[in-house]
Amino acid sequence: MLWEDKAILFSILLVYSSSQVLASGHKQEDVQCAELNNTRWQVYRQQRVKLEVQYLLLTRKNPDCAERFHQNSLSKPISFFNTSRPTKVIVHGYRALGRKPSWVMDLAQALLRAQDMNIVVVDWIHGASFAYNLVVENYKEVALQISVLINQLQKHGCKLESFHFIGVSLGAHVAGFVGTLFEGKIGRITGLDPAGPMFKGADTYDRLDPTDALFVEAIHTDSDYFGISIPVGHVDYFLNGGMDQTGCAHSRFASMYGYVICDHMRALHVYMSALNGTCKLLGIPCSSYDDFLQGSCLDCEVFKGRCPAIGLQEKSGIATSPIPEQQNVFLLTTSSSPFCAHHILLRLEVSPLDKSAEMEVMLVTGNKGTEHRFRLQTDTTVYRRVLAHPAALCEIDSIRLKNIGARLYRQGEIHVKSVCVSEIPFFRLEDPLCVNNIDIRRGVPWSHDFVQVC
Ligand SMILES: *[C@@H]1O[C@H](CO)[C@@H](O)[C@H](O)[C@H]1NC(C)=O
Ligand SMILES: *[C@@H]1O[C@H](CO)[C@@H](O)[C@H](O)[C@H]1NC(C)=O
Ligand SMILES: *[C@@H]1O[C@H](CO)[C@@H](O)[C@H](O)[C@H]1NC(C)=O
Repeated sequence: MLWEDKAILFSILLVYSSSQVLASGHKQEDVQCAELNNTRWQVYRQQRVKLEVQYLLLTRKNPDCAERFHQNSLSKPISFFNTSRPTKVIVHGYRALGRKPSWVMDLAQALLRAQDMNIVVVDWIHGASFAYNLVVENYKEVALQISVLINQLQKHGCKLESFHFIGVSLGAHVAGFVGTLFEGKIGRITGLDPAGPMFKGADTYDRLDPTDALFVEAIHTDSDYFGISIPVGHVDYFLNGGMDQTGCAHSRFASMYGYVICDHMRALHVYMSALNGTCKLLGIPCSSYDDFLQGSCLDCEVFKGRCPAIGLQEKSGIATSPIPEQQNVFLLTTSSSPFCAHHILLRLEVSPLDKSAEMEVMLVTGNKGTEHRFRLQTDTTVYRRVLAHPAALCEIDSIRLKNIGARLYRQGEIHVKSVCVSEIPFFRLEDPLCVNNIDIRRGVPWSHDFVQVC
């Protein structure tokens, strides 16, 4: 489907969801708390040139009630901004219908739970709404305005390297341009599915790139539609290959959200989940997703054995210096929060076959199973595949094999020389679990239980 086509659905979705918000927007709220603005088409047409960027401040002292923040706020002794703490700057992206983003408070609160800091939310809804091509003209002006604020904060003692920008979609390129204005001296930029349309072919000056900050990382989840498909950081995480996310619907008949923006927003949800720290989301460097899936990349030697992890760890936990530039790292996720999966490498070796066949392999932990179907050819005897399993290698209870065979003719027994599972990345030397020399008859399920302790 064409990108324009999806954008139209996206707009319809936002009309639908903004009507829901209006319905719930009348609840009693503390009038003291600042909020992100909404904008309307009429307002947009009247004051098209005004960007009206505003800033909201959240800290552990006011985690649910934002303070309006501007250049002069620091002169007031009452601001919660603490110049000796690090500052996260959240930048939203394109808003098709001028509705304020609903995830901002969730992200801010997840950050505050993880670390004591200042959170500045950039509200540029007036510049970010309606015509995408005009919004793309506005983003540098927004970056320029942000840079004025950062200059002011520097005068009050904030260090450039203490700023960490988190930009969603188009917001990632806004952050990138702020970085360009400070010649790459701001601390960190995290791009959450940085916008693709109109940026993929852009000059590095115009889009997020590794020279924009001391450390630049990006999480890619919809690089075939709204996200960018090229690497833009020191480390680029491609989740499930970076295009189609598990648990998001990929048919037109599914719900609008599921079909249109689920993939694009997944980067944000995985990031928030990583901030909670329930489990690790480690990326494994590899030249391509296919190579990764086929088990060609098993460790993080390029990072001296420490795989980059999504989250707040300094430089994603990378210990090598300088950081090897533009590394694409891959990981599989589950379909819902907390998204972490164990990467299990499955290796199947069979005796040469006369005819092609199919073999289904299933790993079982408790009531959860992960399966993969190998298409066996006559000219190949060794097959490998990396799977996302919800449990660790030592928690796998059993392995099941099924010789599916071809529909139109009988495929007799398949002799399996060995079937092995191991967990990647290889941190410690853990022997793979193997079962050797088994004959699998067509249609007769075979199962083997592992007895192991973690
Ligand atoms: C944004 O909303 C605030 C209320 O939260 C209001 O005071 C302010 O004037 C609005 N700004 C714009 C540009 O609409
Ligand atoms: C500001 O942060 C510093 C360092 O974390 C801390 O020592 C200080 O007490 C904070 N100041 C205020 C007013 O909270
Ligand atoms: C993070 O943890 C909090 C509190 O435990 C929980 O309410 C929230 O749903 C979690 N968020 C995510 C994205 O997992």
